Amino acid sequence: MALGPCKWISTITFAFLLVIFTVTLWSLESNQVQYPFAGDLTKMILGKLEGWSLGKHGVITEENKRGTKSVGPNMTSCHPSYGRKDLLVDCCPPGFQSPLPFVDFQFPDPQSPLRIRRPAHAVDADYIAKYDKALSIMKSLPHHDPRSFSRQANLHCLFCTGAYDQKNSNAPLSIHRTWLFFPWHRMMIYFHERMLGSLIGDETFALPYWAWDIPQGMVIPDMYTNSSSSFYHTMRDVSHLPPQTADLNYVSDTNLSPEDQIDINLAFMYNQMVSGTRKTELFMGCTY
Ligand SMILES: *[C@@H]1O[C@H](CO)[C@@H](O)[C@H](O)[C@H]1NC(C)=O
Ligand SMILES: *[C@@H]1O[C@H](CO)[C@@H](O)[C@H](O)[C@H]1NC(C)=O
Repeated sequence: MALGPCKWISTITFAFLLVIFTVTLWSLESNQVQYPFAGDLTKMILGKLEGWSLGKHGVITEENKRGTKSVGPNMTSCHPSYGRKDLLVDCCPPGFQSPLPFVDFQFPDPQSPLRIRRPAHAVDADYIAKYDKALSIMKSLPHHDPRSFSRQANLHCLFCTGAYDQKNSNAPLSIHRTWLFFPWHRMMIYFHERMLGSLIGDETFALPYWAWDIPQGMVIPDMYTNSSSSFYHTMRDVSHLPPQTADLNYVSDTNLSPEDQIDINLAFMYNQMVSGTRKTELFMGCTY
């Protein structure tokens, strides 16, 4: 079918703009002192175009695949890893060398009771007693039981410190600062909650949540200071305990008034969750 005059004009205009655009990019690239990012921009755009044309022609070689990384852990590659720069830890589960097959997730029966999470600063004494009981049973389980508290702490350790390599690579798999952050932690909390509930035979048991966005939620709940309860830990830094208003950025040692700390917390979290993350990709963290 012949193109009408209007279509010819737009085709020519488009071709002209494409030429101008390409020439501009090349000239920017040759002036990298003045335009430090132009070279990267050119490579990025040319890389995309190359990707599209390869996709179109279906030519996918090993070379072309290098940009796409697998995010699966190599389950037999577990090794000691650095919890901090100066702290080598070994969180590998027993028998990791011959892992059991993965079990596909089954959605719970839609008729099963809803678990309702409540803000940690506002839970009542009955709830605290129930949570305390579930946690103390979990902490008393032997280490070989995968539901034990130590094994669940190690689960986080494994994926936080890069104890597993990625498949077909020596690159460590880490669940922080990437788009694995939200799904991985939701998964961990989901199963932790179900295990706690099952240990006390309560299908409605729900973990409390941390209401960081209101001043009442900015103080560590009192239950964590009860030294006879399972929430207590002797290694906790007492300078953050109540009545201290927690520093949600967790860096400064400044002795701010509670009012100033609350203001700083709100500004910090607004920046983290809203203004600094306007695009989905930014909110979810970097892609792998
Ligand atoms: C997984 O790790 C093991 C042990 O390091 C290695 O022998 C194997 O080749 C790795 N497999 C893949 C698919 O990366
Ligand atoms: C502290 O925890 C113990 C053990 O769960 C409990 O019996 C006690 O009532 C708690 N004390 C306070 C002040 O909540």
